Amino acid sequence: MKACALIPAAGRGERFGRGINKVFAEIAGKPVLAHTLSVFESCDAIGEIIIVTGKDDIEAVGKLVDRFGFKKVPHIVAGGRERQDSVRSGLEKVTSDVVVIHDAARPMVTCAIIERSIEEALKSGASVAAVPVIDTIKKANGKIISGTVDRANLYSIQTPQTFKTDLIRKAYEQAYAEGIYATDDAALVERVGEKVTIVEGSYDNIKITTPSDIELASMKLGAQEQRTGIGFDVHALVEGRKLILGGVEIPYEKGLAGHSDADVLVHAIMDALLGAAALGDIGRHFPDSDPIYKGVSSLKLLGHVGGLLTQHGWKIINIDAVVICEQPKISVHVPVMVGNIAKCLNIDPGRISIKGTTTEKLGYTGRGEGIASQAVAVIGKP
Ligand code: CTP
Ligand code: MG
Repeated sequence: MKACALIPAAGRGERFGRGINKVFAEIAGKPVLAHTLSVFESCDAIGEIIIVTGKDDIEAVGKLVDRFGFKKVPHIVAGGRERQDSVRSGLEKVTSDVVVIHDAARPMVTCAIIERSIEEALKSGASVAAVPVIDTIKKANGKIISGTVDRANLYSIQTPQTFKTDLIRKAYEQAYAEGIYATDDAALVERVGEKVTIVEGSYDNIKITTPSDIELASMKLGAQEQRTGIGFDVHALVEGRKLILGGVEIPYEKGLAGHSDADVLVHAIMDALLGAAALGDIGRHFPDSDPIYKGVSSLKLLGHVGGLLTQHGWKIINIDAVVICEQPKISVHVPVMVGNIAKCLNIDPGRISIKGTTTEKLGYTGRGEGIASQAVAVIGKP
């Protein structure tokens, strides 16, 4: 039987000091809670995730679960005044033999830590993730040091804290019967005389407490793989064709020759995007020989390229492109081109730059025989 995860997320984030529940604060564009849930969602040992949150946040958490497509969340329940009260509410919904209690505010937990904690709890009943204390610990009276503590046996205790469900329920019942509040779940189990075993946590598994923790976590969780791609294309200018650039029909005496609508700018951009993702080029995806692409709008093909990148987990960071021609002047059309491309790729227009340039009447573009375009694209993956 897989373990249930119980995620307390009902705090007020007072030390965070932004007047919000800190689990909604974003790291690399994704809420803290979503980072935490992603780890549990993708961890095979976990069957169900019970989220405990503030009464007023239940709807927002439900939306977050839908938005990120989490499938393992059967219950979102209302928490209480203290963390312990919140965990107590969540425990009522647990159906598994083992429960993994983990702070929503620790988004850098890993599946390996979760699995270690489950394995130990199955063996001995109760486990906590922890790391040896690094700093020297001293006692003080006011500001005057009164002694140095031997840190050899000292640990910083984290979550997950994982228990046989019967054991943690018994410990909670007893604590409430005696009016006891502790700072972690294990302390309640210790009080009923049961052993709790340490498993290896991680120094990265920090609890987001103040805004500077968000910066720290961003460095790890926001670290992106980035790639750059380059695209280049040329089409001949001929009579009797429309001139389409960036999806805009530009009034001009000639148009670009080609199998599709010959939108040379969009072609260069597609090749830059495909190149960055190492997914081939437009010739491979949309061959000239295929009649289905005859006269097709290149924006439609661009939408397809955007979809391919999304499928492979890439996000577009920016696109910079240049259209090289003597005539016509393209600058007045740039805002509409940018809007078309942004809409197609479902990205912010601020991530796209399009410029025009001439070659000072030199070469094929200078003589008006054709239009060329170059583009670079940067894409990223968390
Ligand atoms: N928590 C909870 N219910 C509470 C208090 C806390 O579910 N009544 C949750 C928090 O949302 C967090 C975890 O327990 O995921 C650890 O608590 P803490 O770091 O103290 O968070 P906050 O209580 O929100 O922060 P603060 O103490 O600064 O107000
Ligand atoms: Mg708190």
